[in-house]
Amino acid sequence: MELVKLISNENPFGPPPKALEAIRKYAQSVNYYPKFVPQTLKEKLAAKYHVSPENITVSAGSYELINLITRFLVNRDEEILTFDNTFIAYSYSAKRNSRKYSTVQMTGPECNLNDLIPLCGDKTKAIFIANPNNPTGTIVTHNSLQKLLKEISSHILVVVDEAYFEYVTDESYPNSVQIQKDYPNLVILRTFSKIYGLAGIRIGYGIASREISEVLEKNRLLRSVNALAEKAAEAALDDVEYIEQSAAHNDRERAILYEELSRLGYNVNPSQANFLYFSFPDNERKAKVYRHLSDHGLLVCDMEFFGKKNALRITIGNSDANHRVIQCLGKLVSREKTAEAV
Ligand SMILES: Cc1ncc(COP(=O)(O)O)c(C=O)c1O
Repeated sequence: MELVKLISNENPFGPPPKALEAIRKYAQSVNYYPKFVPQTLKEKLAAKYHVSPENITVSAGSYELINLITRFLVNRDEEILTFDNTFIAYSYSAKRNSRKYSTVQMTGPECNLNDLIPLCGDKTKAIFIANPNNPTGTIVTHNSLQKLLKEISSHILVVVDEAYFEYVTDESYPNSVQIQKDYPNLVILRTFSKIYGLAGIRIGYGIASREISEVLEKNRLLRSVNALAEKAAEAALDDVEYIEQSAAHNDRERAILYEELSRLGYNVNPSQANFLYFSFPDNERKAKVYRHLSDHGLLVCDMEFFGKKNALRITIGNSDANHRVIQCLGKLVSREKTAEAV
């Protein structure tokens, strides 16, 4: 039985062919240090988003930027604000750097930005918003992001983590690069780990005001971005076909999985990312589904690991893997129906 990893929301198609070619080519030169600043990549990203290279910080994945923001833009007596069912790295980074943080209790799968406003006080310094949200797959809209920025103090940094933005099809999704031009306290995080298929080589970037970018760049570990990652990311940006095909595949398969699994009676949340979030009435039921999937070689993310007991997250895989998920969960439902009837 072939094991399929549907745990961490990676691109199921392997690295982009152009990036792989670049990695092979530059592998010959890894005896040399990378440059201090990956300037060519910065310029490529700046041209793509119509900003200045000084607005871009390239990093060893989004994790590095989350850590830099927490450590160098939030003082010890200041506070970070985020949601309770969101990407674990925000609270993890706050704890590691001994920064205070508070969470908004979500009443459902959505991150409601209005709920953040009453919690913003004198000591609030940064708000982290994953958009789409990991693990629930929901988005916050352009209008709600603009409204938040209008209503809170401009001293508070609003960090939108758009790791999955290339998978979004909902037209109300923010054009955050545009909004950032009016609100310099908005910081955008992006990554090459998801649709760009380069999670293992660790590369991401931030788009922010020159002042914020300068602080991030100044405090980044010297040469944190390795030479192969830099070249692979440059090549991946040119692999338009790979990106378009990956997005189209995800859109198609996400709809099939959502419809089929909902039809089978599973409580699946509509998603704008490359994963689906399932809620269960209790931990026992969730554990049963998790076990059944892993017994069939389908490894998914048990959200208990992140403090949410009754939920699973399944990455959208290739068509074969998704078909196996539907078959497997379908069999579980029919087996239970038969057992009930006896
Ligand atoms: C919302 C979100 N941001 C960032 C990341 C990590 O990105 P990177 O690999 O660039 O550190 C993830 C990975 O799961 C994620 O879900």
